[in-house]
Amino acid sequence: MTSSRTETTRWGIVGPGHIAGKFATDLRAVPGAVLDSVCSRDSGRARAFAEKHNIPRWGDDPSLLGADPDVDIVYIASPHNAHFETAKMLLEAGKPVLCEKPITVNAAQARELIELSRSRGVLLVEAMWTRFLPLYQRIRALIEDGAIGLPRLVSSSFCIRAEPDPENRWYNPALAGGGLLDVGVYCLAVTQLALGRAPETIDAAARMAATGVDELLHARLAYENGAMATFTCGVGNRFDNSLTIAGSEGFIHVPNLFINATTAELRRGDGVETLREPLRAEGFEFEIEEAMRRLRSKEIESPLLPHADTLATMETMDRIREQIGLRYPGE
Ligand SMILES: NC(=O)c1ccc[n+]([C@@H]2O[C@H](COP(=O)([O-])OP(=O)(O)OC[C@H]3O[C@@H](n4cnc5c(N)ncnc54)[C@H](OP(=O)(O)O)[C@@H]3O)[C@@H](O)[C@H]2O)c1
Repeated sequence: MTSSRTETTRWGIVGPGHIAGKFATDLRAVPGAVLDSVCSRDSGRARAFAEKHNIPRWGDDPSLLGADPDVDIVYIASPHNAHFETAKMLLEAGKPVLCEKPITVNAAQARELIELSRSRGVLLVEAMWTRFLPLYQRIRALIEDGAIGLPRLVSSSFCIRAEPDPENRWYNPALAGGGLLDVGVYCLAVTQLALGRAPETIDAAARMAATGVDELLHARLAYENGAMATFTCGVGNRFDNSLTIAGSEGFIHVPNLFINATTAELRRGDGVETLREPLRAEGFEFEIEEAMRRLRSKEIESPLLPHADTLATMETMDRIREQIGLRYPGE
């Protein structure tokens, strides 16, 4: 007989900000998921978040989560620049981690975390929620079944309009801001899903903001098997944030906003099929469930977003940043 104790997964949260609030709300929709602790740099903020989301424990030292036997897994939701240090500390303590995107600022850091996950046998998953949505699992299955033939062309865009304030997460280089790391990472994650490999050549151009981060970026990627991809991302203007994956036999179009879409169109010949895969909450429930599934089966990664895909995306972003001359403080 299985006890309720083993069915329950107790979550800790680091970085109780905007996205952590949405995550905490969606976690309530996942059977067996329990919010146990929250950690801020300020215990008053941790307490306010804990009270709002009915979390029994709070604190201001994330290292306590690493040592806490009552916390099964930690979700890291701080800005990009802070992911590596927190994830490294937790993995070294043997604590499983679900870390917001992008997993780190650069590929060297991602590689180090993945090596730690492997050497310690501890789960590490990038919280790239799009990859865990039912629509994207369906798209992946369709591609694998040859529904569009060999995927040869991917086009995607993700632009948001943030205020050009040097203090905010999007424009601040100290927080590893800019379009590529914040929103372009989604384009690369779905391109990697469709094409299953890293690009051979990259041709990127960017308009840089006064703060030095990429405000608008466009990149063309070419692959050794003849496939091609383009994407546009940015933090300074709105756009049509859609995705198209095309092959010799047809294409799949995911309309704006592709990152959390529930419908898409599959076109083959003269036929059009609408794919529908609803959410149960706001979309975070699927990455939460997947992390819990892998935790229970004692795996160190998710097949829906393997370490190799996370690393390939980070490596591509490093190569793009080299072309546009973007280095973050401390790199
Ligand atoms: N999945 C999605 O749809 C989605 C959407 C938006 C963002 N994100 C990702 O989620 C992460 C957080 O984004 P957000 O918009 O939630 O950020 P945010 O609200 O600006 O910051 C999150 C929290 O991190 C802590 N923090 C702020 N600056 C920090 C620093 N320099 N070092 C350590 N901690 C710091 C703050 O909490 P305390 O000061 O109280 O510790 C803050 O409340 C990013 O990786 C972002 O890319 C994902």
